[in-house]
Amino acid sequence: MRRRNRRLFFVFTAIVLVLLVILFALRWKNKSGSGEGMPGAVKGASGPESGNAADGDSGEEDDGLAPREMVTFDEGQMHRGDLVLVSSSHAYDFEANAATIGLVNIREAQNFTYQVGKPEFEIAQRVMPHLDELVAACDAAVGTKMTGVASAYRSMEYQQEVWKEMEDLYGQEYAEKYVAAPGYSEHHTGLAVDMSIFYEDGSEGTFSESENAYWMNENSYHYGFIRRYAEDKVGITGISNEAWHFRYVGVPHATFMKEKNLCLEEYIDLLRTNTTAENPLVITCDTGTFEVYFTAEESIEKPAGEYAVSGNNVDGYIITVEQ
Ligand code: DAL
Ligand code: ZN
Repeated sequence: MRRRNRRLFFVFTAIVLVLLVILFALRWKNKSGSGEGMPGAVKGASGPESGNAADGDSGEEDDGLAPREMVTFDEGQMHRGDLVLVSSSHAYDFEANAATIGLVNIREAQNFTYQVGKPEFEIAQRVMPHLDELVAACDAAVGTKMTGVASAYRSMEYQQEVWKEMEDLYGQEYAEKYVAAPGYSEHHTGLAVDMSIFYEDGSEGTFSESENAYWMNENSYHYGFIRRYAEDKVGITGISNEAWHFRYVGVPHATFMKEKNLCLEEYIDLLRTNTTAENPLVITCDTGTFEVYFTAEESIEKPAGEYAVSGNNVDGYIITVEQ
């Protein structure tokens, strides 16, 4: 009888221990989240490798019901990330981006050889694989190997040179239509490239009327790029039609903008006026389904799934959560 009791006590203790281990494991899993997979995804506070990083504190807030984990953005976050609007009214914030821009030399980092206008051209590292894919897909679709990069990251000084060169060649009016003022160019972000076609000897062809330009206009969104300056948006962007300038924003956002024919200014306005955490925009694209919303608050309840945060460089933050 005593032996039976001892056995019962042992079994009961073992069950309690197993239950405790399961409870602890579930709680730990809940806290750490999934975190991998989405480009620019953040797991609470994150490092400089992600331009989308919500590099702030995350803590818990007691609302009397259940503990909610919060993510708090730091001062520079509004000016960092894949969705920053850089335009004549919104300067690029060099300081806020200095630690996270992560430039790489395109010729050294490309995963196959394609033409790059100058050996020193750089781009944000996180965009590099997407650029490789864009060029490879364009070459494959067009059937030649002529797609290349005519311009990429530009420092303040380099943009000044570009501006001066255009002004000297074609005059101030032309320069204003096609070149952003130094400090106000998307090329400062490391997320923008000017595409072109190149012949074998390295000389550049005319991109605008090429098959490559048509293909890229239709398909760049699959690789996360938007054609930034279109003819029908000149009144909004203030920049003339540029068939060559592509800006990385990420596949979900590029897909929605392409489908709805929105330029970045319009998309950012739409998110601000029509979305909240409770009423997000739902985007289904090649890489999955995402909920996207705007907030002007400096902290958010930590999303349940993988998520990315980008400032809009105007007045708030855009949160993208993978479903
Ligand atoms: N060509 C674009 C507008 C720039 O200079 O940034
Ligand atoms: Zn450009």
